[in-house]
Amino acid sequence: MAEQHRDSFLGRDDVNSIESILADDAIDFGTDFHAQHIGGDAVFTWDYERTRPALSTLYEKAKVRQWNANDLPWDTDVDVERVAVELGGAMAGMRDLLVEAEGSPVRSWGDAEWNRFAIESFNHRLSQFLHGEQGALVCTAKIVETVPWIDAKYYASTQVMDEARHVEVFARYLDEKLEGHYSVNPALQLLIDDVVGDTRWDMTYMGMQIMIEGLALAAFGFMHFVTNEPLLKQLLRYVMADEARHVAFGVISLKEFYAGLSQAEILERQEFAFEAALRMRDRIMMHAVWERMGVDRADVTRMLFTLREAGTNPFQAALFSKIVPNCKKLGLLDAGDGWLRDRFTEIGVIDFENAVDTELEYELLDAGAAATA
Ligand SMILES: [Fe+2]
Ligand SMILES: [Fe+2]
Repeated sequence: MAEQHRDSFLGRDDVNSIESILADDAIDFGTDFHAQHIGGDAVFTWDYERTRPALSTLYEKAKVRQWNANDLPWDTDVDVERVAVELGGAMAGMRDLLVEAEGSPVRSWGDAEWNRFAIESFNHRLSQFLHGEQGALVCTAKIVETVPWIDAKYYASTQVMDEARHVEVFARYLDEKLEGHYSVNPALQLLIDDVVGDTRWDMTYMGMQIMIEGLALAAFGFMHFVTNEPLLKQLLRYVMADEARHVAFGVISLKEFYAGLSQAEILERQEFAFEAALRMRDRIMMHAVWERMGVDRADVTRMLFTLREAGTNPFQAALFSKIVPNCKKLGLLDAGDGWLRDRFTEIGVIDFENAVDTELEYELLDAGAAATA
């Protein structure tokens, strides 16, 4: 399923049709577990020489920056409605757009509905963080097996531990502080399946370390900036310091690997990056939240499409502010004939190319985490 989905996605006429989005959204990933075939070979290297100092440095940092989830202030009394409304308040501009949109199904909503929507959205977001972290855990374990370089195997193994801890903290926060969790967003799981199912080791890196982690870092950063809830703020702070290291790992490794690829192989990577970006922008929606609120999924999808066409989706800025500079750093923007630069220009996000890239940001976050540890 993974191959088929990826290979045909960009060229498909129905890529942006409401029917195709709703069809993906209806996929059932099971109640107890979901199995996805892992692509690629387990690679054993006999070259144990440490020839990649940048990865070695990252590995040394990862070893001393481990933290224990038990040390977070779990006894904090969390007022979920307050936290959720605070986060929802930061999206007030979006709320106005939704109310005023043509054919809006939320025009009659008052404060009670919006407060409930804020709580459900908060719950949904943290639930997706949890499922996404498990995706990262599985992908990173695969990278340990498939990457041919010993320095990368060493580093990736520290990331496996980091991701386990991230799953642990989000699961515990959801379990102890919130009720009514959400199952994985189908569009997110489809993307994770494609990323872990690809037979080329570097595609799992690119899909997880650069694209999905780039998105996660933007989402964590937003929530960390807005919330004053001390447990959540500290939890996100710690997770973000790890995540920035993870994206840096992807950038350092792929920059080296891409330098040895042919133009045709680079184009495949550019297409993969662009497709993943579009899927994250257009297809990962909060259908389950709207449904709990009694709003029809098709109605809300239609409304969000209208808003996107008007260029008023604020989520887009956060998403691409990480992805575009990281693609630039990898040399993917201008490789070949600049195919990816042209695509990002067409969808109006090329201006983010000079936003701070994650390797630089990592130094800042890492220093901050060390100071607060
Ligand atoms: Fe993570
Ligand atoms: Fe990560």
